[in-house]
This record gives sequence, structure tokens and C-alpha cells, in this order.
Amino acid sequence: MHIKSMLALSWLAIGTGAGSHAGAQAPIVIKFSHVVAPDTPKGQAAERFKLLAEKATRGKVRVDLYPNSQLYKDKEELEALQLGAVQMLAPSLAKFGPLGVKEFEVFDLPYIFPTKTALYNVTEGDIGKGLLKKLEPKGITGLAYWDNGFKVMSANRPLHHPADFKGLKMRIQSSNVLDAQMRALGANPQALAFSEAYRALQTGVVDGTENPPSNMYTQKMHEVQKHMTVSNHGYLGYAVIVNKKFWDGLPSDIRSQLEKAMKEATTFEKAIAQSDNDKALELIRKSGKTQIYTLSVQEQAEWRRALAPVQKTMEQRIGKEWISAINRESAK
Ligand code: LMR
Repeated sequence: MHIKSMLALSWLAIGTGAGSHAGAQAPIVIKFSHVVAPDTPKGQAAERFKLLAEKATRGKVRVDLYPNSQLYKDKEELEALQLGAVQMLAPSLAKFGPLGVKEFEVFDLPYIFPTKTALYNVTEGDIGKGLLKKLEPKGITGLAYWDNGFKVMSANRPLHHPADFKGLKMRIQSSNVLDAQMRALGANPQALAFSEAYRALQTGVVDGTENPPSNMYTQKMHEVQKHMTVSNHGYLGYAVIVNKKFWDGLPSDIRSQLEKAMKEATTFEKAIAQSDNDKALELIRKSGKTQIYTLSVQEQAEWRRALAPVQKTMEQRIGKEWISAINRESAK
């Protein structure tokens, strides 16, 4: 086409604004899948991230949330992320073993974190960063750690002493450390997807389980468990992760805006996690469906003695250096 006619055409396009509309960009879509209810710490933080991300990018990014295993269940979601079928997840730290990143199971070790502060020193420090780095060869970038809380144990019989677990089938997340934990208590562990936990308890496929109160309550597990023990024997937290290829392919300004949104959503999430779990425990107590028992100091010492061997037996799987590093950090 003659250069004059090309110039005439381009002026025409600019004059009618067609050029600007024709170039209107479709938003970048982040599919964010997770397995818990919206009114949990993780569910609320995902909604807060959506709000902040869409505002910061002025709509250039849209975050589509899929809570409660709507899109993918536990194991499926990690495969979907690696395939790029979803862009963002926030799986429990107990669920990275099947991916081949067994080191994350250090977070599942019984009584390894004496306080939340000790835990945050780990996740916000070099140990946390080092663990997220291990995801990169799997095509995954770790953005943040989100918190849930210390777990309670539940069953249809009182759980005051380790001997009370004898022969119980206990639902766990897919973690070899949690498998070893339940066996150390004399129970039979059964790894099941979170979306299957309620039904397995209701039908007696399993006799009991463990989780922070916010998950117990929002999945109505207290309605099918007569006894709950506040043992704080273990911790449940999350890594917020993205498909690495998708993340690296974002325009740098968009990536920075999303990093800022994630930072703010993480601060929000940590601020609500403990109060959310405290509220859930109170609602369970008020429901009258479950008898809640808090271990005495002596009883907790019994549980610690019964569970102490798990650290040693899991050293080879997790890596002694990670366990020692966390024990040093927790002793500060
Ligand atoms: C579970 O499977 O029990 C938890 O990991 C669910 C969750 O994401 O909190």
C-alpha cells in the first residue's frame, strides 16, 4: 500500500479512536483455586488479594477465586498449577511431599514451634526463603506464607492420653510426618483429600482427624465428632504459590503491583488467623455438638514424650539441617 494511503488510514483510525478501542487489552486472568471455605483465614485472604490486585492494576488483572475445592481437590490442584490450568494456589505446607519437595513437612513435626513468633521467625527469615526456593525446579514460584494455626485433635471418644488413640483411623493430610505422628500415638493414619474429610468422618471411614478449629467448624466436622482436644500438637500453614512461567512472563510493572498486593494480603491474613480460630473454637463449644477438652500440663508432657521420636525418624526424609535450623530459631 502506498505510504500516503497508509498515513491517511492511520490518521483516520486515530481520528475515530478506533485505534485506541481496537487495542483495548483483555485482562490478565489469575485463576486462584483453594480447598477451604471462604470464611476461613485463607479464604478471606484470597478475597483480600483479589480486591487489592484488581485495584492496584486498575483492572489489567482479574483474579477469579475458586474456593472449597470447586475447581480442583488437593492433589489435583498442584498438577493443575504445574500445567498452567490455574495460576495461583495456597496449599497447606503438608501437601508438597507428592511434588517431591519433602522438606516442607518440617512444618508438620509435632511441637516443633513453641510459639507463633518462633514460627514467623522461620517463615519470614532465611529458612522460609530457602524452602520456597526448592519449589522453583518444579516450575513453581513461592510468593508468601499464610497462617492458619495450631491443630486440635478430634474423635468420637475422649483423647486425653496417647493411649486413647490406640486403633483409631485418623484422617491426615498427605504428609509422611503426619503419618508417623499418628502411628507414634498408636493410631492408623489415612491420607484423604480435605474435600473428603467430613464425609469420611460422617460415614465412619475414619474415626477422627486433626485441623485448626477454623477448618473443623467451617467444614462442620464438629457435628460428627463428639470429642475435641486442644493439644496444639502441630501447626497448619500455607505457601502461596504461582506457576513460574506465568509469573515470570508478566510485565514487570504488573508483577510489582501484584507483589505489593500479596504483601498487604499476607499482613491482613496474619492479623486475622488467630482470632478466626479462637472464634471458631467458641462457636464449636456453643454448638454443644462436641465436648472440648484442653490438655493439662502433665498430659501435654505425655503427648510430647510419645511424639518426640517423630523428629528423629523423619530426619532422613526432611533433612537434619532443616530440623536443626528450625530448632535453633525456635530456641532464641
Ligand atoms: C487439610 O487438608 O486438612 C488442610 O490442608 C486444608 C487447608 O487448606 O487448610
